[in-house]
Amino acid sequence: MDASSMFAVSLCTLCLVIISPTFASSTGRQPRTSYIIHMNVQSMPKVFSDHHNWYLNTLSSVSENRGEIPSHKLIYTYSSSLHGFSATLSPAELDALKESLGFVSCTVDRPLELHTTHTPEFLGLGPALGAWPASRYGEDVIIGFVDTGVWPDSLSFHDEGIGSIPLRWRGACESGMGFKPSSCNRKLIGARFFNKGLLANRPNGTLSMSSGLDTAGHGTHTSSTAAGNFVKGVSYFGYASGTAKGVAPHARIAMYKAVWTHGVYSSDVIAAIDRAIEDGVDVLSLSLGFSSGGSFLGDDPIAVATFAAMEKGLFVAASAGNDGPLHWSLMNGAPWIMTVGAGTIDREFYGMLTLGSGATITFPSLYPGKPFLGPLDIVFMGACDDVPKLESVRGKMIVCKDKLGINAQVEKAMTARVTAAVFITEVSVSEFYTRSSFPAAFVGLRDGQILMDYIQRSSIPKGRLVFQKTRIGTRPAPRVEIYSSRGPFVSCPNILKPDLIAPGTQVLASWAPQTPVGEVKSGSLYSTFNLVTGTSMAAPHVAGAAALVKSVHPDWSPAAIRSALMTTAYLLDNTRTPIKDIANYNLPASPLDIGSGHINLSRALDPGLIYDENPQGYISFLCGMNYRPKQLLAITRSVSHCIKRSLDLNYPSFIAFTDREGSHSGGNFVKEFWRTVTNVGNDRSAYAAKVIGLEGIRVRVEPDRLMFKQKNEKLRYKLTLEGPRLSAEEVVHGSLIWVEDSGRYSASSPIVVTSLVQESPFIRSKSDRQV
Ligand SMILES: *[C@@H]1O[C@H](CO)[C@@H](O)[C@H](O)[C@H]1NC(C)=O
Ligand SMILES: *[C@@H]1O[C@H](CO)[C@@H](O)[C@H](O)[C@H]1NC(C)=O
Repeated sequence: MDASSMFAVSLCTLCLVIISPTFASSTGRQPRTSYIIHMNVQSMPKVFSDHHNWYLNTLSSVSENRGEIPSHKLIYTYSSSLHGFSATLSPAELDALKESLGFVSCTVDRPLELHTTHTPEFLGLGPALGAWPASRYGEDVIIGFVDTGVWPDSLSFHDEGIGSIPLRWRGACESGMGFKPSSCNRKLIGARFFNKGLLANRPNGTLSMSSGLDTAGHGTHTSSTAAGNFVKGVSYFGYASGTAKGVAPHARIAMYKAVWTHGVYSSDVIAAIDRAIEDGVDVLSLSLGFSSGGSFLGDDPIAVATFAAMEKGLFVAASAGNDGPLHWSLMNGAPWIMTVGAGTIDREFYGMLTLGSGATITFPSLYPGKPFLGPLDIVFMGACDDVPKLESVRGKMIVCKDKLGINAQVEKAMTARVTAAVFITEVSVSEFYTRSSFPAAFVGLRDGQILMDYIQRSSIPKGRLVFQKTRIGTRPAPRVEIYSSRGPFVSCPNILKPDLIAPGTQVLASWAPQTPVGEVKSGSLYSTFNLVTGTSMAAPHVAGAAALVKSVHPDWSPAAIRSALMTTAYLLDNTRTPIKDIANYNLPASPLDIGSGHINLSRALDPGLIYDENPQGYISFLCGMNYRPKQLLAITRSVSHCIKRSLDLNYPSFIAFTDREGSHSGGNFVKEFWRTVTNVGNDRSAYAAKVIGLEGIRVRVEPDRLMFKQKNEKLRYKLTLEGPRLSAEEVVHGSLIWVEDSGRYSASSPIVVTSLVQESPFIRSKSDRQV
């Protein structure tokens, strides 16, 4: 199963789940729904020894069955991720609860969706490059995953070369079906599971595996992508062969399983993050998201729970979602999260068709069956819509062209159990097709013409097929993928999102071996490694990168680590031209597609300058968004009054909406940003501001030189953007780069000026001005 079909499955699950709460239960009582309830702990009466008892008592007082001990209604008590609990309530009970002492707000417990041998080199990692030895391969850092569990016997989780478990670790390796405490080691140091929310929402759901064991493959894949140890000689049926390793090969892995075959609920995800915070996780990697969020950040369980994580110093990397390429399609864009989009890497998997004439045609392929086939007779079968006819030429290589859509053609060929097929198509087909269950080649119109000419000229046309070929160094790479969700972020448009892109397409990593990875005629195929695609795969790359930065700079805040990764990202691909957008005819991508660019670890450990931020800064920012006291309390847990309101979060990127900003002379828009940079490079260093792109916009940086006298000194500057209001849907972009005089350091920040209107339909203006 490839990533896209996995998401289809999770979406279907979601539909089922949404319907179920509206069914009245068989006992005839009012339907019950589960909720996440935020409470103000400052209101807790002194008679209660702890929050749990207070919540139980509150529930008991609103219960329809007076005097009942409502512990079965209480799903979880939360203590670190938010103040409150989750519970199953009838409408009347919910109404009564809303009048209770300390009640702040509630949201329905809604479902979420789930969203490498070669990639570490592509990130600029390798023993010679210094990042691994300097960080001791991330050994001191614990990365937590909220995912589908983990397959502990995977080779990626061996603990050779890794020292003893950090003493501060408070997590556990919980036993359950197929999982023993001894399943953990010095690499995989924790595994817990959370399914009370799922069971409350789907009382009839059967759990395939009540433990941290991964039966889907996704969690094994993400965790080994971030922190898998070295495994020699792996491949996916011959594709991508080499040594597999995570980005931080010696970082510790702690799995919090909250994603189940039957769905994933907010209440379980919050409980998982709650535990990860308490256990002492340093970096959180989240490859799931909440897509149906409204405009209030506090309705998004991941935004809420990760605010608490950020306050405790955890770095959070999360996938931007696979809902691209429209603007406003991004998830997980809260300002305290590092939001990761997905790009391609410089690697291609392909097959080759060699004709009797000696001519060869290559085509993208992930066919996992026998790698060699032929020579076979070639027969042209037109649109391939006649199954009996196709059956009559079994043993030959059929060629199909036009009329029917590719989908129907492939289906007919499969039904007829053809020996091999070549499909001539003008559309570039997705991985779903190239991972075909029978020997198939999808070729474009130009190669198709070569093939047709050969068939016409030759008396007995023949061809051979070869599969499982891997090519490295393909250009251009990286490119931003079609599926990668794009900014701005609906709930918080004033921060430019995504933050950056990382490899997401066809990432090779460990897999749960009892979950099929492909299908051929003889049945399902299984593998301990799998190639998977999605922003789910991009986020753990960044989590691993953050682990390496944190190993070298253990005292850096999550914002400082994010800044280091963002300001050192690159904007040029391997043809030295701007990174391109596959969804937009390979034209240059904008920061709304790729943020600061593609992650480059060889610079991130020593960025020279950082844009730091503390929890107070985020609170001032939320105040700047004019949230009401109860809304603030739901996110911050303790703050309901604003001391300072400011949208100037100290963020290493900039976005201005021309229609909303103040006017200046002649109806121009004017937007000012204040930022503070910290010198983490040499003691005495001077930086000069350089601005690129932003055609038609007046850009001022004051001062335009920063002179640091010592390390850790902070200096402030102001960026002013001024220009005409843009016409509808325009995106103008560029960068501000602080370049150190010696040339050793430079810190780059993307700038977007746009007239995009929230949730407006996607129109890519032809006048998109490029850098
Ligand atoms: C749940 O299971 C019970 C007992 O087996 C059954 O009576 C009920 O119809 C089931 N409910 C749903 C929604 O499937
Ligand atoms: C990554 O950073 C290194 C060190 O500055 C640089 O040499 C390399 O070109 C960068 N990679 C890309 C793809 O820009």
